[in-house]
Amino acid sequence: MKRIIGNQLTSGKRTLFDRSLFLLKSPLKTITFFMLFGLILGYGSPAQSQDIAQTFKQNCSSCHWIGGGRLIGPDLKNVSQRKDRDWHVRFILDPKAMIDSGDPYAKKIFAEAKNVLMLKVPGMTAKLANDLLDFIEAESKLDSSQFAGKKVALGPFSAEDAAKGLELFTGRTKLENNAPGCINCHTVNSVGGSLGGRLGPDLTQVVARLQGRTAITSWLSAPPTATMKSQFQNKPLNEQEIKSLVAYFESSANNDRYNFDSSIIWIAVIFCGFGGSLFGLILFSGIWGKRFRAVRHPLVKLSKIRGES
Ligand code: HEC
Ligand code: HEC
Repeated sequence: MKRIIGNQLTSGKRTLFDRSLFLLKSPLKTITFFMLFGLILGYGSPAQSQDIAQTFKQNCSSCHWIGGGRLIGPDLKNVSQRKDRDWHVRFILDPKAMIDSGDPYAKKIFAEAKNVLMLKVPGMTAKLANDLLDFIEAESKLDSSQFAGKKVALGPFSAEDAAKGLELFTGRTKLENNAPGCINCHTVNSVGGSLGGRLGPDLTQVVARLQGRTAITSWLSAPPTATMKSQFQNKPLNEQEIKSLVAYFESSANNDRYNFDSSIIWIAVIFCGFGGSLFGLILFSGIWGKRFRAVRHPLVKLSKIRGES
């Protein structure tokens, strides 16, 4: 109604259309207008997609590639074809709840990840999950996503790498960016022993647990879990450090140091036991012998006296 009235010549009001006509009347203004429009379009959307790319990088990329194979979590290339959007949003919002609910697909992907649980990202919302899934879908269509797995040759690991890793683990060699040594919070086999920290889990089998060299390398380059993130986000491990540490974890998982150590302990226990018993026997026979004699002698004497009598 209002527009019709506005359009009436008598009202004197001009519609947006009327006003836009000035564009045609002034070529300079027109060019400026479209340049501004282009700027908004040109900068506006990439800036937004850069944000979401950044979000993906910080929160998802240490466990997921988009193309190139599985990392700790499944490859997300074309993930939208595997399950519907609503399901994925609910899953990203609370992975554990979804798995605990007994949902067969959730249980299946959990088993495929060797029971490593996807983390619930703090502050995740349905909108953000949707944006991330849009982003993953767009990246899936590219020939090669910026988050596609790089097939970097990691190996072969040398004994020297593993030795360096041990030094880094124990903190004897400082980490380049001054993050705290792993031994403050972790043990590996017997290394650390009672001195090693108990805050974090034992890392002896961690390469297998986090599904191999490539996956753990990516994991360590941007640890996604709460405590690790707080320690390493601003003081990241460098590539060489990660390689050495992974080499060390791999070698410590394979060697029989633990068995060796525990057999030494058993031998020690047996010998101490043996030595201890021997010592005890000597002591015992000494004391008991005396006490025995102390009781026996008078008896013998008594019997002698009695026998004589
Ligand atoms: C700690 C590693 C880790 C992080 C970080 C992580 N995920 Fe996952 N993700 C997994 C694992 C592992 C699974 C498989 C299910 C499970 O075991 O929990 C999974 C499953 C998924 C699935 C379902 C895949 C399928 O095949 O249907 C989607 C989608 C997903 N993640 C998206 C994300 C997004 C988005 C982020 C970042 C906000 C993210 N993940 C962060 C480990 C992770
Ligand atoms: C301040 C304590 C702390 C320090 C220092 C620390 N970690 Fe951790 N780490 C943890 C905790 C706690 C966890 C369990 C997950 C979490 O809360 O982040 C963990 C988890 C891990 C995991 C995942 C284990 C798994 O089975 O899921 C790896 C791998 C790891 N840390 C490696 C390292 C390495 C390598 C270093 C040294 C360069 C290191 N951490 C230093 C506390 C620490």
